[in-house]
Amino acid sequence: MDQMKELDNVLVQADEELKDVSDLNSLQQKKANFLGKKGPIAQVMATMRELSQEAKKELGQKSNSVKVALEELFEKKKKAIEDAIINKKLASETIDVTLPGVNVPTGSIHPLNRTIQELEDLYISMGYTVAEGPEIETDEYCFEKLNLPKGHPARDMQDTFYINPELLLRSQTSPVQVRTMLEKKGEPIKIICPGKVYRRDADDATHSHQFIQCEGLVLGKNVTLADLKGALLEMAKKMLGEEREIRLRPSFFPFTEPSTEVDVSCGLCGGKGCNVCKNTGWIEVLGAGMVNNNVLKMCGYNPDEIQGFAFGIGVERIAMLKYRIDDIRNFYTNDLRFLNQFKEVK
Ligand code: DAH
Repeated sequence: MDQMKELDNVLVQADEELKDVSDLNSLQQKKANFLGKKGPIAQVMATMRELSQEAKKELGQKSNSVKVALEELFEKKKKAIEDAIINKKLASETIDVTLPGVNVPTGSIHPLNRTIQELEDLYISMGYTVAEGPEIETDEYCFEKLNLPKGHPARDMQDTFYINPELLLRSQTSPVQVRTMLEKKGEPIKIICPGKVYRRDADDATHSHQFIQCEGLVLGKNVTLADLKGALLEMAKKMLGEEREIRLRPSFFPFTEPSTEVDVSCGLCGGKGCNVCKNTGWIEVLGAGMVNNNVLKMCGYNPDEIQGFAFGIGVERIAMLKYRIDDIRNFYTNDLRFLNQFKEVK
């Protein structure tokens, strides 16, 4: 029977045509061609009427099995096309783990912030707390209550930026002492206060119109000059190296009596004398002293009951000695060649 042969041919032909199909749309089209109403199977079936009962049955069975086979063929091809699409997508998304990574640029902590953090950690470990005060300060807190009345000649020591006769940019962190004493009302105190200060100075290698101080104030029943020396020696050793020594030289500050300037032994020459320490073996790093009775009284403390010491560390000074920096302007010009050197510093 010719129709039977034709049906076999349909399968062979479909198999042949599907070889070139690679997308789902074309596949759908082909499927419609082969299995649709105008397709080869439907055409064969249209000739059935002329056949005998026996032949009709045989042809019906044959066309059914060819249909099933065709459907399987198309299903298989569909699966193959879908797999190919997924594989292509996966291949394009594959990550080459052997490629070198992209370096993300990171910043570093500024050497002055690093120094402040170290000072804070050190003094916190000795039982101090950190206090703060405003950079715009009153003349009263910055000077008058620190025993520097208006017109006092020692005001010349600090060329000050005035906003008006009563307001100024603080020229020292010492007013935070005043604020803390007024707040604590006669209670013992143990604070440090790092912060920015301003002076009408011309900038050069050792002067800046804006710099950082770290004030310290300890008030209690039996606080002595020996305690002050201990607190500062510890600072010198922990910040600059265990081999460092300090010496106290008599000096004058209106808010302390006695007053002292504190030098630390030169780390470059070990005290023998070199050009960093101007051949003295010592480098000045801070001012300090026992809090003047007048200051205690003006800030609500009774000097017969409570006494103590204060100090004002030059933070740039410490950082310059620690990192061997010879020009204070380096801290403020933000040159990346300078700042990048502190990435590795622990
Ligand atoms: N405020 C002083 C200055 O800026 C430094 C100083 C000296 C602070 C003695 C103190 C101190 O607390 O007791 O030069």
